[in-house]
Amino acid sequence: MSADVAEKHFDKGLANTIAAESSMSYIDGVNGILEYVGIDIDQLARNSTFEETTFLLWNGRLPNQAELDELNAALRAEYTLPSGIIDLIKTFPADAAPMHALQTAVAALALHDPEADVNDPEANIRKAIRLVAKTPAVVAAFDRHRSGKDIVDPDPSMDIASNFLWMLNGEKPTETMARALDVCLILHADHGTNASTFTSLVIIATLSDLYSSMAGAIGALRGPLHGGANEGVMRMLEEIGDIESIDAAMQKKFDNKEKIMGFGHRVYKAYDPRATYLKTFARGLAEDTGNMNLYEMSSRIEEIMNEAVAAKGIFPNVDFYSATTYWSLGLKLDLFTPMFAIARMSGWTGHCIEQLADNKLIRPGSSYIGPHEMPYVPMSER
Ligand code: CMC
Repeated sequence: MSADVAEKHFDKGLANTIAAESSMSYIDGVNGILEYVGIDIDQLARNSTFEETTFLLWNGRLPNQAELDELNAALRAEYTLPSGIIDLIKTFPADAAPMHALQTAVAALALHDPEADVNDPEANIRKAIRLVAKTPAVVAAFDRHRSGKDIVDPDPSMDIASNFLWMLNGEKPTETMARALDVCLILHADHGTNASTFTSLVIIATLSDLYSSMAGAIGALRGPLHGGANEGVMRMLEEIGDIESIDAAMQKKFDNKEKIMGFGHRVYKAYDPRATYLKTFARGLAEDTGNMNLYEMSSRIEEIMNEAVAAKGIFPNVDFYSATTYWSLGLKLDLFTPMFAIARMSGWTGHCIEQLADNKLIRPGSSYIGPHEMPYVPMSER
């Protein structure tokens, strides 16, 4: 082992490594606390909007009315996708995974942005605004395209949550639906140096560009150990089918040593505070929309998990009750993770801008465990 490697330590999964400094979100995994810039997530979910929360994450403070109006206007002015992106989306196969469609279209947005490669803070804020404003339009446009429906133009009189539902369904959402989605966006907007945020940091730290970073982050998010878990939860509920089948189905999963989607977290060893909020929220929405069966199934799974693994610090995470919430909002199962991406775009872009303000290339070492001094064997002798 070289002296250089000996001084470093191997930390599998970087679980015990602090890889960045950030002023955006604070997580206390032992006590189940999440704050954005010091404000408890519950306060923000009750009182804020996704746009205001985005300002908070990007600026380190809440906006005054004029500042919020300015950000809202800037976002709404960027809702529309370039026609080249609409044309591109129309070439995507109807059976493509929405996360692949989103990743491709977000990377392609760089082709239509003359500032794509300008990395100064002002240009990056303008690009962050474009990315946050256009991501919902990409998701909605792809869903309309794959369903054989006309793509709906954005409506700049609406906020991001309402406009997304409008572009997706071609109908104005009810206030309850729009507010529910807005709250989901707030709860998912940021979460420390999670896998996708870290991916975005690795990319931006090479002095690449925001679009490349976001495309990379979307790729990391879609995995079932990360944002893809919300789809996994819904698939599990569908697969189990009804409340009577839960106990046997869970026992089978335990016997097979399967990880239960929507449970456990690298940081939280207590109840994920986002799940606390979403649980109450999912119940209300399920009641309003006739999806109580789904909520009751989720509750029973939680009870079983409580008995089986709570002692190990495994509790529902943000993805568990967001599945019931999104389903009650009428979203298709494979749009659950894209919803997460729409929200996290504000956190990802904020972290990248923060990284560039005090940048250093992120390049960990690895411990070589292969052989040394091996002969090169000619092809004819292998
Ligand atoms: N179901 C059953 N057992 C679990 C689960 C689960 N969901 N999660 C962790 N465990 C057990 C695991 O088997 C291990 O047990 P033991 O020590 O006896 O071998 C122990 O808990 C530690 O698990 P780990 O996988 O080593 O922990 P980690 O920190 O590497 O993993 C995790 C965290 C989120 C990947 C994991 O909990 C998991 O796979 N959960 C299911 C997928 C999921 O819901 N992901 C969403 C995470 S929250 C949203 C986000 O930030 O993306």
